[in-house]
Amino acid sequence: MKILVVGSGGREDATVLKLAESPEVEEIICAPGSHAIGLRRIISNGRPVRVISGIQPTDAKIMADYAKEARMDLVVPGHESCLEADLGDWCRAYGIPFAGPCSRGARLETSKAFQFQFLMDNGIPSPLGKICETVTSAKAFANMHWNGVVVKADGMARGKGVKLCENTEEAYAAIEKLMIHRECGRAGDRLVMQEFLRERTEVSLHVITDAASAFLLETIRDYKREGVGDTGENTGGIGGYSPGPELKEETLFKIREHLLGPWRRGCKSEGIVYRGILYPGLMLVGEVGFRVLEFNARLGDPETQIFLRRFTGDLAKLLYASATDALDESMLSWNPEPSVGVVLCSEGYPRVPKIGREILGLDDAAKVPGVKIFHSGTRKDGNRWFTTDGRILTVTALGSNARARAYEAISLIHCEGAWFRPDIAEHLK
Ligand code: AMP
Ligand code: GLY
Repeated sequence: MKILVVGSGGREDATVLKLAESPEVEEIICAPGSHAIGLRRIISNGRPVRVISGIQPTDAKIMADYAKEARMDLVVPGHESCLEADLGDWCRAYGIPFAGPCSRGARLETSKAFQFQFLMDNGIPSPLGKICETVTSAKAFANMHWNGVVVKADGMARGKGVKLCENTEEAYAAIEKLMIHRECGRAGDRLVMQEFLRERTEVSLHVITDAASAFLLETIRDYKREGVGDTGENTGGIGGYSPGPELKEETLFKIREHLLGPWRRGCKSEGIVYRGILYPGLMLVGEVGFRVLEFNARLGDPETQIFLRRFTGDLAKLLYASATDALDESMLSWNPEPSVGVVLCSEGYPRVPKIGREILGLDDAAKVPGVKIFHSGTRKDGNRWFTTDGRILTVTALGSNARARAYEAISLIHCEGAWFRPDIAEHLK
C-alpha cells in the first residue's frame, strides 16, 4: 500500500511510525512532513519515509492532484485544516480512499456553532449554552451564569478560541476580545456561550467509523491547562495517559445510546456520510453521566502519540478499511499496559512561544527503556535540533512504569526555557 499522510506534527510523526510497522505498507509520503518524520523508515523494506515540504495541508486540490499522480492507495488526514479545505471531497472525487470525513462532516469540528446546534438537535448530552451573534446577547448569557461561562469562537482558532471565564468580568473581557478586537479574526463572528462545567475528569474518546459502523478506540486523558492541578490557560494538550479514566459499563452504554446512535442519525439527516475518526471530548459528570464538550473530526494531538503506543493491530489496514467501508471490530487490539506522554513546551507557550532554541539530550532520552519521542515543533540543522513551535516534543513511555520512564526521559532533554507539566498521570506514581 502507498500512503500519503497529511500534516507535520507529533500526531503525524506517531501515525507515520505506526503505519511504517505494517507489512502491507511499501511507501509512505508525508506532506509537508518534518525533518523528524523524514528520518522514519518502513519496517518491511527499510525505505525512508518521503517528505514533501512544499505542499501545505490547506492546498487541498494540489495535495489531491499529487495523490492521484503518485497513485496513492490511501490518504490519511492529520490536521483539521486539510479537512476544512475540502481534501476529503477532492480525494473522493478522484476515487482515492480517504480516512476522514468530507468538509460537511468536518464542520462538526470546524464550526462550534454547527457543532452546538447538532448536539442540541440530536439530543446529545452537552453543556447548556447558546449561539450568540452579537456582543449584547453574549453578555446577556454571561449575566445569567454567575458561576462562570465558557466562551467559544465559532471558527478555527488554533486552540485560542475557547476562554474559560470564572466570572462575568472575565466573560465580558473574553467576548470583547473575540467579537470586538477580533483576537481570532473572523472566527469571532459568532460565539457559542456555555455554562462552565466544574467537574474535572475529561476523556478523549476516539471512534473509528465507516459509512455503516463505528467502533470505540481506547480512551485517553489529555491535560489541557498549562498549570499544575489544571490551572492557568488552555493549551492544545500537553500530556496524557491511556487507558484514560475508567468508563463504567453504564457510561459505555450511555455513550452508545445517547452519543453514537444520535450522532449517526444526525449525520444521516444532514446528508453526511462520515468516515475516519470522530473524536468527542467528554466531561464525565455524576456517577455515570457525560457531556460532550466538543467534537473533533481527526485524531487528537498529543492523544495519538500516547494511545497508538498501545495499539497492536495494523493501522494501515484499519484506516484503509474505514476509508472503504470495510471496518471490522477484529481489527482493533491493544496492549493492556499503560502509556504516558509528557509534552515539552517552549518558554512562553501557550501565549507567545520563544522558538529557535537548541534541543540537547535527545539521544540519551530515547535510550530510556520503553520510551519513544515524537517531534511536533522541531527542525534539524546538520546534527543539531532546534525548536520551531510552542509544543516541541511528546515524550511517551509504555509499560508498567511508564510514568517514571517518561519523566526520566524528558528530564534528560535540555532546551533553554522549555517546560513541562510535572503532574501528568499522578495515579500511576
Ligand atoms: P473545546 O475546544 O470546546 O473542547 O474546549 C477546549 C477545552 O476547554 C476542553 O477540553 C475543556 O477542558 C474546556 N471546556 C470546554 N467547554 C467547557 C465547558 N462547558 N465547561 C468546562 N470546561 C470546558
Ligand atoms: N489534544 C486536543 C486535540 O487534539 O484537540
